[in-house]
Amino acid sequence: MKLKNKIALITGGGTGIGKATAFLFAKEGARVVITGRREQILQGAVIEAKTENLEIEYLVSDVSEEKDCKAAVDYTVSKFGRIDILFNNAGVSYMGITHETSTELWDKTFDINVKGIYLMSKYAIPYMIEEKSGCIVNNSSILGLKASPAGFAAYSSSKGAVNQLTRSMALEYADKGIRVNGICPGTIYTPMMDDLFDKWSDREVGEKRYISVHPIGRLAQPEEIAHAVLFLCDDNIKFMTGTMLSVDGGMSAK
Ligand SMILES: NC(=O)c1ccc[n+]([C@@H]2O[C@H](COP(=O)([O-])OP(=O)(O)OC[C@H]3O[C@@H](n4cnc5c(N)ncnc54)[C@H](OP(=O)(O)O)[C@@H]3O)[C@@H](O)[C@H]2O)c1
Repeated sequence: MKLKNKIALITGGGTGIGKATAFLFAKEGARVVITGRREQILQGAVIEAKTENLEIEYLVSDVSEEKDCKAAVDYTVSKFGRIDILFNNAGVSYMGITHETSTELWDKTFDINVKGIYLMSKYAIPYMIEEKSGCIVNNSSILGLKASPAGFAAYSSSKGAVNQLTRSMALEYADKGIRVNGICPGTIYTPMMDDLFDKWSDREVGEKRYISVHPIGRLAQPEEIAHAVLFLCDDNIKFMTGTMLSVDGGMSAK
């Protein structure tokens, strides 16, 4: 078991990549707390985990609300005594070219995708400093590395900010035993992508369009990203910090 006795907190852990990572971490021996805004979704994930003999805890918590971030960290520490791993995974994506993006959606994107990582880290890091050990993984995107003409200005900018926040944090805490890395997924079959496929008049055409930009010729399942997050949290690669790891079917190589 790669994460035996580790304590992991995963934001947006009720669905998609976060949920797949929570299940994999629990299988690898970690005690896992997942957060999100919708209690029913979180409860559903916990019940599903039980059917696989996995124990996962949940807490309703919005990463764009400072008090919720503090509460999520405090809950995890009060329950398990410390936090070894923070997977800042929660994120949202709204389509719209720059001048057609409302100020409200621009702010919401940054509040969740960027400020959420800052706030969760702000409250988790003091506990990690105390332990002289910690691992933070931030979920970015291929769109944090490359721009798209398809109308992802706010999302892509927010993920670019995630990359720089990741690198800054890696340097700030490198001498404190805390590693900070990021992951840049290509297109993954999750509820977020379901919403985007549905925006096409023909869903199948939309999906094929996304597949066509991935050199590997397919999209990925959330579990494939979960394994990459597990790799970043493995104590055997403790020399790795400040890296943005692309898991994108070859997209970033183009
Ligand atoms: N799917 C892809 O192709 C892809 C590609 C690159 C990067 N990513 C990134 O992967 C991450 C996970 O997305 P996903 O694809 O797995 O989609 P998803 O299933 O929609 O997951 C997003 C999760 O974030 C949670 N969330 C959203 N806003 C939140 C908030 N304010 N506070 C707490 N939780 C919040 C959602 O739960 P609630 O709505 O209940 O809060 C949901 O569980 C995101 O950061 C996304 O940008 C995805």
